[in-house]
Amino acid sequence: MTTEGEVAVLDYGSQYSQLIVRRVRELGFVSHLYAPEKLGALKKPGAVILSGGPRSTSEKDAPDVDFEKLKAFGVPVLGVCYGMQLLNIKHGGTVRPGVTREYGPARLIVGGDSALFKDLPHDSQIWMSHSDTVQHLSEGTKVIATNQDSVPVALQWGEACFGIQFHPEVTHSHEGTKILANFLRLAAGKLAKFSITDFKNQMIEQILQEAAGREVICGVSGGVDSTVLAVLLHKAGVKQRCLFVDHGLLRKHEREDVVSQFAEVGVPIEVVDARSRFLDALKGVSDPEAKRKIIGNLFLDVFFGAADHIEVMAQGTLYPDVIESATSGSIASKIKTHHNRVDRVMELKEQGRVIEPLAELFKDEVRALGAELGIPHRALWRHPFPGPGLAVRVPGEVTEDRLAIAREADAIFIEELRKSGWYEKTWQAGVVLLDVRTVGVKGDERSYEAAVSLRAVVSEDAMTADWVHLPHEVLRVTSHRILNSVKGINRVLYDVSTKPPASIEWE
Ligand code: XMP
Repeated sequence: MTTEGEVAVLDYGSQYSQLIVRRVRELGFVSHLYAPEKLGALKKPGAVILSGGPRSTSEKDAPDVDFEKLKAFGVPVLGVCYGMQLLNIKHGGTVRPGVTREYGPARLIVGGDSALFKDLPHDSQIWMSHSDTVQHLSEGTKVIATNQDSVPVALQWGEACFGIQFHPEVTHSHEGTKILANFLRLAAGKLAKFSITDFKNQMIEQILQEAAGREVICGVSGGVDSTVLAVLLHKAGVKQRCLFVDHGLLRKHEREDVVSQFAEVGVPIEVVDARSRFLDALKGVSDPEAKRKIIGNLFLDVFFGAADHIEVMAQGTLYPDVIESATSGSIASKIKTHHNRVDRVMELKEQGRVIEPLAELFKDEVRALGAELGIPHRALWRHPFPGPGLAVRVPGEVTEDRLAIAREADAIFIEELRKSGWYEKTWQAGVVLLDVRTVGVKGDERSYEAAVSLRAVVSEDAMTADWVHLPHEVLRVTSHRILNSVKGINRVLYDVSTKPPASIEWE
């Protein structure tokens, strides 16, 4: 489905390709990502951007561009990184294959008066991630900027064809958005305007096509992604079943909250009560990895058992999940891979029976879509909560009693965060029930009870995180309430660890 006047981004495999699309949308224009060979199928794009990529243009079978077709559109073109090298070659220049990859910050020193750099400072920070560099420039190529070592990092051919060696789409390129805005201004009046309503309607159209009259099953957790997904399917009018598995590792009143959240948006859900199965399976287990494995496998058994027969399954996979599972080896990405890419799901996927309508979106775009779908603010700004639930916040054996303590303390902390206005300034927060007991005094007696640690972090993508500098008063009130009302606790700590080296969850 191509759109007239869209900004077509040709994907040469950079992990930032979709980020370019997102930036263009932020600037108010329709944009989609396409495989380079789809260029011929585009319907009058308003501008074309060639993304970066991991390959070298000198490699055999390096991805190419149909340059004649590109020129025939007669629209502004911007090549980023690999895209710049490709354009340089097409214009008769040559490229020197790099031996090592240059990665990280560099300077952009602007020379001349190219429209691409209108209103930019003479010198600003840019972000590099490339191996090839330009070697020879053909006649007619203008160098419009260099790096701090006078190496060309931005080229121009004619009025509206540009190549830049750096990534304008990442925030580390300080003037990146302005550069993209300058580029798009060259196509002013010819670009299709982005609207979240049109975007939602397109997604609905696509869901209907993919579901093709079949029943769609989706797992819901009450979290932002699965809620937006379920409501989107509902609005699309597909035959739908939403399953919510209660594994007994939820927070206080969470099941009731999720049920009422879905009632509010008018989407029926089925609650699968599997509490005793999970607690039985976790009996006597305290190793974190063993716990995770048991929960993960049992979750799938319960879900697939309750679903009985699946015609089509919908998953709330987001773009960063897709990228992480493809390129990074972090714990979080493995967990997500485990979640969305397990064998049973992959089998369905191979048969064309999995749809992932949110896979091109970033979290904040999902929230914007959710707002457009009429999902209440509270549901859209709910903190992330791990699939294995409180089990990873109760180091040691998971028992009903220990879960009850963690649940009570967690509820108090979250309530205090909400009351003080810190909940929405925090990415994620919760309470960890430690597997130690310490000595204290309660009444006139010596106590020997458990300790809890409060954890509150800020983050952009959960890959890195910092602890939240909560006011002492919030900590004081939370600690006081926990110590006075949660039985079995005589000590409250605050976790001041960044990620890395710590992780957000304790297990
Ligand atoms: P860590 O502890 O790795 O967590 O810093 C990063 C983010 O991932 C969440 N998390 C999970 N989410 N299933 C999930 O859906 C899981 O098994 C899981 N483990 C961690 C964690 O809450 C944080 O937001």
